Amino acid sequence: MADIALEENEVPAQLPDVRVAVLGAGKMGGILLQALLKQNLFSADLIHATVAHKERAVALSTQWGIDVGTDNLAAAKQADLILVGVKPHQVADLLAQIKPALTKDKTIVSIAAAVKTDDIEESAGIDLAVVRAMPNTPSALGAGAAALCRGRFVSDKQMELAKRLFETVGRVVVIEERLMNAATGLSGSGPAYVYVIIEALAEAGVKVGLPRDVATQLAAQTVFGAAKMVLETGYHPALLKDTVTTPSGCTVEGVLELEKGGLRVTLLNAVEHATARAKELAAG
Ligand SMILES: NC(=O)c1ccc[n+]([C@@H]2O[C@H](COP(=O)([O-])OP(=O)(O)OC[C@H]3O[C@@H](n4cnc5c(N)ncnc54)[C@H](OP(=O)(O)O)[C@@H]3O)[C@@H](O)[C@H]2O)c1
Repeated sequence: MADIALEENEVPAQLPDVRVAVLGAGKMGGILLQALLKQNLFSADLIHATVAHKERAVALSTQWGIDVGTDNLAAAKQADLILVGVKPHQVADLLAQIKPALTKDKTIVSIAAAVKTDDIEESAGIDLAVVRAMPNTPSALGAGAAALCRGRFVSDKQMELAKRLFETVGRVVVIEERLMNAATGLSGSGPAYVYVIIEALAEAGVKVGLPRDVATQLAAQTVFGAAKMVLETGYHPALLKDTVTTPSGCTVEGVLELEKGGLRVTLLNAVEHATARAKELAAG
């Protein structure tokens, strides 16, 4: 994943007083962190991040222009908002490290797939405000899709803060926690499915004679445009499909091939299997 170009931001931060710790600034944590810096949601000097390896911390600190270290407890102590970005199996260990810093007025936002809010609350041993989130990688370009759910001890203000964080990098839905694995299978993993579709469409373009770069651009822009139509018109995708499909035309020939090839059921199976895997991970 390419780094996000960060420039000196002269616009005042939108939430200048919120102190943030991103614990586990890897691929997803790093994407969110860079996007938040670019959007200037928080003051850069009030953001602290951690990773596991010292050399990486030094490199990222230089690259992002913020404090990046390896001391989770120190970062958590000085934060109001703690974003947990480590791998799911590393969450318990991380929470044990930062437990002395956890107080009821802090907000934890965990992006770890399959880790439940009550597991985090239990590890903390206090009525801790935990928001669980499932973002996705297009957050890097402000085009993310994030599903959020609310733990038992989250106030409206804390939930608003968590929503604000993800709205800065895309679209947000708030769902019940029992649906979080489904969001993981659909939108968390979803960019990968769509890249496969774009790759296949581009390959098809090459097969019918288009140069590869032209085919890739046409395929990606077509997916982007169709998604924008669904989101901005609010029309059902089937209705939008029907507007492209004229009687005895070319499109209906293509659509029938998609049905013959089982694209619809294949995508359904992909989401179902990814959701089941998220459930397995949740069960440990
Ligand atoms: N990738 C996605 O598309 C995606 C989407 C939604 C949610 N998520 C969730 O995001 C989380 C991270 O996934 P990822 O793909 O970003 O993995 P990743 O790139 O491996 O990031 C994990 C980061 O955690 C750091 N880390 C490990 N142990 C640590 C510790 N004890 N203290 C501080 N930092 C520590 C690692 O540091 P080093 O770099 O030094 O090793 C690394 O930077 C997962 O829980 C995943 O479920 C990912």
